[in-house]
Order: sequence, then structure tokens, then C-alpha cells
Amino acid sequence: MPLVIAIDGPAASGKGTIARALANHYGLPHLDTGSLYRAVALAMVRQGADPADAEQAAAFARALDLSLLEDPALRHDDTAQLASQVSAYPQVRAGLLAFQQAFAAQPGGAVLDGRDIGTVVAPKADAKLFVTASPEVRARRRTRDLLAAGQTACEADVLADILVRDHRDASRALAPLCPAPDAILLDTSDFDIGAAVRYAIELVDSRQSAARRQPGFR
Ligand code: CDP
Repeated sequence: MPLVIAIDGPAASGKGTIARALANHYGLPHLDTGSLYRAVALAMVRQGADPADAEQAAAFARALDLSLLEDPALRHDDTAQLASQVSAYPQVRAGLLAFQQAFAAQPGGAVLDGRDIGTVVAPKADAKLFVTASPEVRARRRTRDLLAAGQTACEADVLADILVRDHRDASRALAPLCPAPDAILLDTSDFDIGAAVRYAIELVDSRQSAARRQPGFR
């Protein structure tokens, strides 16, 4: 049985770490879909394109340069802000959708994390998690990660950036950041990452057991 796991949530909620751990645990390929939006943003910056031009952004999305996924600049905070801006364009989202859906449709299954996996990319996923944490906890984590990666970061500025991005991601018209109705909420504010991962595995296992008990399961 293929196993598709959809993980959504706001910036620095722990969704990427949980997604990687679940992929490792179940032996599944993992796609960090935020990196696709970041790659569109980075490609535009590198080529001097105007991020306010939705059509141009869509052309970059359709011709996505996958080599950018390994670029360290992908992780910079200004790339994240620009990714949030271009990800609000419906044409950009449409340009990246087929790639994400093909990834989710691999024969053995897959783990994808992002903002709209459970709602748009893989609405029939076997297990959906919506991972959150308070903005303050997320800002602390992201600041620590940026500093560990050798970047400069001030927690107050990171918090302000996270709040701007949360608002933009949750209020856009198409595929806003919001839990799918059948997603399980996982607030990691008071969890260390090991506990959050163990909890996520229990949730996925219980979803799989429930599915096996359904009439017609072979
Ligand atoms: O790592 P972090 O959670 O900070 O951000 P990310 O997952 O790399 O996503 C960067 C930006 O891409 C987000 O702020 C969203 O605006 C956008 N995004 C999206 O719109 N849909 C997705 N499935 C994933 C990311």
C-alpha cells in the first residue's frame, strides 16, 4: 500500500524536521515544497526579474531550475520573504502543482511538506498533519538555525518577518495556509523535536491501522 503523508504549517513550526524524520522512518521520498517557491524567488533575483510581475514569476515556476534546490542562498530570510510574495500568484502555484502532484503519486508513496499539501496538492493523502508553534517559539528556532548556518539573525527581526509571512500566507486568495478539515493538529511549542517526531509517528500509525479496519481493505 502506498503511504502519502501531507504535512503543513507555518514557518519554523518544525514541519520540515518532522517530514524528514517521517520519510526516514517509513522509507519514503520527501519533498520540501517551500524550497520550490524559494527557488522561483531566487532565480528571479539572480536574473534581475521584477517580483511584482506575476507572469514573469510564473514563467520561472514553469521552467524551474532544480539545481537551485542545493543553493545555500535558498535558506536566506530574504529569499523566504520573496518566496511568500511570489507564492501568492495563482499562476506560480499552477506552474508548480504538476511537479508536486507527480512526486506525491510515486508508487510507494511520499512525504511532502508545505502550506497546501493536505488541501490542494494531495487532498487524498493517507495522513495529514498541521504542525504549529507559537510565533515566539518559531522565531527562537529560526534564529538559532540561521546563526548555526553562519548567517546573521536578530530574534526580534526574525519574529517580525515570520508574522508578516504568516499573515500573507494565511490571507492569500488561493491555497491559503490553513489546516485541511481532516488534518491532525500538532502544536510543537512545548515539545522537543524528538517528542514531536514520536507523536507524529504514532498519529500516522493510528491512521494506517484505522484505514486497515475499513471494509474493503485488502
Ligand atoms: O521553511 P519555512 O517554513 O520558513 O518556509 P518554506 O516552507 O520554505 O516556504 C517559503 C514560502 O513559500 C512560504 O512562506 C510560503 O509563502 C510559500 N509556500 C507556499 O505557498 N506553499 C507551499 N506548499 C510551500 C511554501
